[in-house]
Amino acid sequence: MSAYVNVNGVVTDAAHAVIPVYDHGFLYGEGVYEVFRTYRGKPFLFDRHQARLRASAARIGLEVPFSDEEVERRCLETMKAAGLGAAGEAYVRILLTRGVGEITYDPAACPFPSLVIIAKPLPPTPAGHYEHGIKVVMVEDIIRNHPESVSPLIKSNNLINNALGMQQAIRAGAAEAVFRNYRGELAECAQSNLFIVSKGVVKTPPLDAGLLAGITRAFTIEVGASIGIRCEETPLNDQDLFGADEAFFTSTTKEIVPIVQVDDRKIGDGMVGPITKKLLAQYRRQAEAMSTGRP
Ligand code: PDD
Repeated sequence: MSAYVNVNGVVTDAAHAVIPVYDHGFLYGEGVYEVFRTYRGKPFLFDRHQARLRASAARIGLEVPFSDEEVERRCLETMKAAGLGAAGEAYVRILLTRGVGEITYDPAACPFPSLVIIAKPLPPTPAGHYEHGIKVVMVEDIIRNHPESVSPLIKSNNLINNALGMQQAIRAGAAEAVFRNYRGELAECAQSNLFIVSKGVVKTPPLDAGLLAGITRAFTIEVGASIGIRCEETPLNDQDLFGADEAFFTSTTKEIVPIVQVDDRKIGDGMVGPITKKLLAQYRRQAEAMSTGRP
């Protein structure tokens, strides 16, 4: 199984998927995207991803001339071409750009947005990450995009801020990078949302700290509530993270990943904590149940 790509309705293997260099997604990073995964071959929380794609598009003044049904149809068609759905879980990336037009910021130059769908096997997260936890770094010298600049609420194809954060993580052999915001508070990670656990309460920065409204973040809060684990959205700083009993990050592709080390400091006792374990187990149970239709 390999990657298949749908470019404006035409499905090919990844090597043959091309986009014109005058596409403003390429020229300016002017576009938005979503990533969803499947459980049991079925798109998970797909309606939420569709809604966020539209919200991101609206924030960059991009009209979406496709219905949700059309986007879904193209996703399923691309997954099928890649041999996904029936066997093996899928990673699906939907990209919507301003489209092809003259080199100008005038949106009128681009009459049609480009819709690209990449479907490939879900990259496996090493089991050790869940069993033993991972290390993250604090991003130095760069802050998460200011909410009044390119708001992190926009799931934008313009990912330089995120890429610079991840470069620091990769250099340090860490799995993620934690950004602070312009106020010096914790915001989110380069590719995921951040949570801590302190005295039995789960805490995560509020959206106005400047972060993506992660779909896994919201689902994790719901999962916690369903088993009596309280979660507060509250501003957090470095000391909250360093002094936490547990920490973890959330994202569509990786679910809930325990953080046991930040730079050279251990979190809690350096082991995966009981609340993180409970949340992950329940998260998977609910995702399975929703995908099989069995409680
Ligand atoms: N990343 N914050 C950022 C900056 C992200 O890029 C992501 C997701 C998240 C988590 O959002 P969600 O739970 O909706 O996946 C938070 C995706 C998976 C990616 O870029 O591949």
